[in-house]
Amino acid sequence: MPNPFSPSFGVSPPLLVGRDDLIEEFVEAVEDGPGAAGRATLYTGPRGAGKTVMLNAIEDRTKAMGWLVVSETASPGFVERITRQHLPRLLRDFDPDAVHRRLGGLSVPVGPLGSGGVTWDTLESHVVAVGLRNQIEMLTDLLIEQETGLLITLDEMHQNQIAELRDLAIAVQHSFREGRELAFVGAGLMSSISDVVNDEVLTFLRRAERHHLGSVDHGDVQLGIRKPIEMAGRVITEEALEVMTSGTRGYPFLIQLVGAQTWRLHSNETVITVEDAQEGVSRALRRLGALVYEPALAGASAIDRTFLLAMTKDDGPSKMADIQERLGVDVNYASQYRLRLIAAELIESSSHGYVDFALPYLREYLRDEAAATI
Ligand SMILES: Nc1ncnc2c1ncn2[C@@H]1O[C@H](COP(=O)(O)OP(=O)(O)O)[C@@H](O)[C@H]1O
Ligand SMILES: [Mg+2]
Repeated sequence: MPNPFSPSFGVSPPLLVGRDDLIEEFVEAVEDGPGAAGRATLYTGPRGAGKTVMLNAIEDRTKAMGWLVVSETASPGFVERITRQHLPRLLRDFDPDAVHRRLGGLSVPVGPLGSGGVTWDTLESHVVAVGLRNQIEMLTDLLIEQETGLLITLDEMHQNQIAELRDLAIAVQHSFREGRELAFVGAGLMSSISDVVNDEVLTFLRRAERHHLGSVDHGDVQLGIRKPIEMAGRVITEEALEVMTSGTRGYPFLIQLVGAQTWRLHSNETVITVEDAQEGVSRALRRLGALVYEPALAGASAIDRTFLLAMTKDDGPSKMADIQERLGVDVNYASQYRLRLIAAELIESSSHGYVDFALPYLREYLRDEAAATI
C-alpha cells in the first residue's frame, strides 16, 4: 500500500496538525480588510518546524477565498521574478483593455503600443517595465470588482537579501497605506527574521504579526499519525501509536519521518504493531543527523559547538551558571553565545537562567558525535 507520509522538506503533509489556530488567525486578517495587523505575518521556527508547509497551507486557504497568490523564496533575484514572471502572469488573465486603461492611468510614461489593437503581447513589455509597485496597484485595482486581493508569500527570508527585501517592502508598505487588498506572509529562521525586522526601511515588517512555529501537542501528533494511516487503509494499535507519538517529541518533521519509516516496514500488513513502531522510530532518528542536525549546525562556530557540548552534560535544561563554569568564561561572554545560539534556533531559553536544545534529540546526537571523536 502506498506510503501516505511525506518526509521531505517543503512537501505538505497528508494532514497538517496543530496549526489550525494560526491559519484561522491569518484568514481573519484577510477577512477583516486592509489595516488588519495579520495582513503582514511572519513565521519563524527551526529547520523542520513546518514553515514552508505553513506557507503552502496559507496559500491554499487564501486561494480558496478567491485571492491571487504570488509565492516566492527569498533567493537572489526574487523581486525580478515577481515583476517579470508572477505578476505579469496574473495580469494577463484580465481583459487587455482594462489593463491598458490602468497602464495609461499610471504616472510612468508608457510608450506607443503599435497598431493592431490591444492584446496581451502588445502590453506585456510595458507591464514588466512599470515595476513592482505599479503592478501591485494595477492588479489590486482590477481585483476590486471581484472583491478579492493579492497575497505575496516569501519563504526563507534572510538578511543577505536585504536590498531586495527593501524593494518589496517599499511597494507593500505603499499599498498598505493606500488601503489595498494585499497581504504579505514571510517565513525564516528567527535570527534572519530578527535582522530583517530591525532594518530601518522595513517598518511594516516590524509591525508584522510574528508567530513561532514550535512543537506540536501530543494529541495533535497522534492525529497527524493515525488519520493518514487509517485513510490509507491500515490500522494501528494504541500502543504502537503511543510509541510513534512520543518518538516524535512533537517535532513536525518527525511526524512524517517516523510515519514513513514505520509504514514501510510491513506495508502489506493491515496492522501496524508496536515492534514496527519501535523500529520505525529508531530508523527515523538515525536519519535526523544528515537531514536536520548537520545542516542546522553548518553555521555554528567552534565556540558555538563547545557551548552546545557543555549543555550535553545535563539531561534536561542547562543552568547558564553551569555552562559558564564548564566553559571557564565570564557572564558576558557566555550570554553573547547564548544569544547567538538562540537566534540560530539551536537552543531556547527554557526558564529564567536556563537554556535547552531547540531541536529534539540534538543532545543525544551531540553526545554520540563527541563519543565517536574521542
Ligand atoms: N504541522 C505539521 N503536521 C504534520 N507534518 C508537518 C507539520 N509541519 C511540517 N510537517 C512536515 O515536516 C516536514 C518539514 O516541513 P517544512 O515546512 O519543510 O519545514 P521548514 O520549512 O520549517 O524547514 C515536511 O515533511 C512536512 O510535511
Ligand atoms: Mg522550508
